[in-house]
Amino acid sequence: MAIKIALLGLGTVGSGVLKIIKNNQKKIRQTSGEEIIIEKALVRNPEKHRNLASEVMLTTNFDSILQDPEIKIVVELIGGLHPAKEYITAAINAGKNVVTANKDLMATFGSELINLAASKKCDLMYDASVAGGIPILRTLATSYSSDIISEIQGIINGTTNYILSQMGEKGLNYEEALKNAQELGFAEADPTNDVTGKDAAYKIVILSKFAFGTKISIDDFTIQGINNLKDFDIKQAQKLGYVIKLIGIAKNINGKLFVEVAPCLLPGNAIMAHIKNELNALQIKSQSLGTAVFTGPGAGSPATANSVMSDVITETKNVVKNTTGQPFSNFSHVMQLTSSEDVKYSYYLSFEAEETLFDLSKLLSNLEIPVREIKQVQSRIVVVTENISRQQLQDLAIQDQYLKASYKILQ
Ligand SMILES: NC(=O)c1ccc[n+]([C@@H]2O[C@H](COP(=O)([O-])OP(=O)(O)OC[C@H]3O[C@@H](n4cnc5c(N)ncnc54)[C@H](OP(=O)(O)O)[C@@H]3O)[C@@H](O)[C@H]2O)c1
Repeated sequence: MAIKIALLGLGTVGSGVLKIIKNNQKKIRQTSGEEIIIEKALVRNPEKHRNLASEVMLTTNFDSILQDPEIKIVVELIGGLHPAKEYITAAINAGKNVVTANKDLMATFGSELINLAASKKCDLMYDASVAGGIPILRTLATSYSSDIISEIQGIINGTTNYILSQMGEKGLNYEEALKNAQELGFAEADPTNDVTGKDAAYKIVILSKFAFGTKISIDDFTIQGINNLKDFDIKQAQKLGYVIKLIGIAKNINGKLFVEVAPCLLPGNAIMAHIKNELNALQIKSQSLGTAVFTGPGAGSPATANSVMSDVITETKNVVKNTTGQPFSNFSHVMQLTSSEDVKYSYYLSFEAEETLFDLSKLLSNLEIPVREIKQVQSRIVVVTENISRQQLQDLAIQDQYLKASYKILQ
């Protein structure tokens, strides 16, 4: 039997899927049990893809895919919220199974689409939406199905990791490192979603559902990007023995869920500190497995297409066995989010040296903020605190106008 699929989009990921299906058909037939045929590919501009016209039928008409009863799986790789949402909704309503790599869509409309797929007994899988080539969602849904996760820390945006690596290792400033990343294709022409932390926030929303069973939205937690990070702070962190990374974190703190995306200091000898450039990594702490780290390419054509294909093959088997309609992850658990008093970390703080060390020490003491290290460096005062609550940090920010940067220190 052959399973016919349609691709929506033939860009970076879509063309990678096409290539894998063409080159690896023999293994795909053995592992899925079926031949997988790309029946049609939807694009905006067929002229741009005319070199592929001999391999796949190109169309600009989504209805021709929707109305083709032979197409069992629709693979959405156009990105963005619209018309991706409408196309996926229509495909599921027509009884088709869906694979997508679209994190923006799944973080924003995931619940609605998941419920629709279940009601229509269709599969909806999206392993490539988080950490590109690292098969993290399927691993969480299957290998962790009996384990209790207490924390996920992730370097889940390759663009920012590339920029921070270049700033840390080559001493570039933010603008220089961003320009470099754009020239090498590691950052888009408009890098806003990446550098402001929004892309990582979408991914931590999806990860929280898989790891903790809890539905959250990107409006529920603090998102801080790297766009205001100063090379001064990166250098000071290095002198103190730390590396700064943009980290998405989801953590169970006394039964409540703490979620945040922010630049954090990691000890220089931590595994995550060694994840460089465009690579991604996820560190998972759990009851049975302890600490495990998964690392690999978080983006790119073949790596992301490989995750897409893992979903396509899983869905193919379900279509053949007539077992479609199970959610990608059926873990569900309601957790309250933490308040500012619940969350305690030690912090790196950087103040403008407009105030004296004496005045600052007095204020920190009044706010009961224990200090591990305090020193004046050029026109800044750098402080490392012991564990303090987010509430104490917020009080400090209100009372001291010279506080210019505060970053959590992770252990
Ligand atoms: N790139 C990665 O490494 C990566 C990693 C993980 C996840 N993802 C996700 O994968 C998805 C695809 O990303 P990508 O990088 O492959 O995107 P891309 O290179 O920009 O390709 C998008 C494709 O979709 C087509 N398209 C866009 N809007 C369309 C519309 N309204 N109607 C018909 N076709 C349309 C484009 O057609 P034309 O070519 O004719 O313009 C193009 O072929 C996104 O959700 C992205 O977040 C990407």
